[in-house]
Amino acid sequence: MRIAQTVRDVRAARDRLTGRVGLVPTMGALHAGHEALLARARSGCDSVIASLFVNPAQFGPLEDFAAYPRDRHRDRAIFEACGVDVLFEPAVEEIYPPGESTRVDPGPIARVLEGASRPGHFIGVATVVAKLFAITRPSVAYFGRKDAQQLVIVQRLARDLRLGIEIEPVNTVRDARGLALSSRNVNLSPKHRTAAGALYKALLTAKSAWTNGQRSGQALRKAMRDVLDHEEAIETDYVSAAHPETLEELDDVPGPVLLSLAARIAGTRLIDNITLPDPD
Ligand code: PAJ
Repeated sequence: MRIAQTVRDVRAARDRLTGRVGLVPTMGALHAGHEALLARARSGCDSVIASLFVNPAQFGPLEDFAAYPRDRHRDRAIFEACGVDVLFEPAVEEIYPPGESTRVDPGPIARVLEGASRPGHFIGVATVVAKLFAITRPSVAYFGRKDAQQLVIVQRLARDLRLGIEIEPVNTVRDARGLALSSRNVNLSPKHRTAAGALYKALLTAKSAWTNGQRSGQALRKAMRDVLDHEEAIETDYVSAAHPETLEELDDVPGPVLLSLAARIAGTRLIDNITLPDPD
């Protein structure tokens, strides 16, 4: 595995790759969710580029940029074991050199759900993803359904900016209790990890209501909120039953719907979602 820390080095490494090139962007603190993306890239491409960059532009002033879990050496070993050919590990000044000012604004879909709770977050995500795409010029890039709104925004970015890069969604990897794997789960005590199981339980409760014929968006949102309210350690941020592409809240839910939610447990913010009917 070649490690490149500068834009110049990673461009030179990219120029030597041939065939279908896959990109897996990450912020490190790798877990089995990231490994699922890397495995899909490895099996679907001739060469795999991964990036490890904790992107300051997508963290709000009161968020956990400084405290975000970092373990470069462990991460490098995992990237290597997953068959990554080129690992791009830039310093902040490589991506945001002094004087740079261009930002990518995905529009209204960036301002609902996660974007309403985290102003500017998706401008930071879209900007760094656009830069990573421009620097590495992949054929295809892999993103997890765990961050459903991010996935929709990146799909739109690739389409709107005519990048000619395929975006491949990868299903959410969960632990035995259904909790979606997240780098932030390391902040949860065993007790709070158990409580966090209520997030997936809330989604499954709404799913079974929908499967049994419930077509009211409001009723589906209430079904999720009731499960979360039942768990004392959970402070709900939002519950949503929205159109999977426009992300507009739905009153009637005859067809595809993105059920999503965000909650805080002892200061750790967690998100989860499912799409109905099952996307795969
Ligand atoms: P990060 O949180 O490190 O996630 C990197 C990729 O892994 C994202 O596409 C995310 O959706 C996916 N992922 C995370 N947990 C997952 C799980 N349990 N199952 C499946 N996939 C999972 O998302 C980011 O970094 C950043 O916003 C980034 C896109 C790198 C831009 O900075």
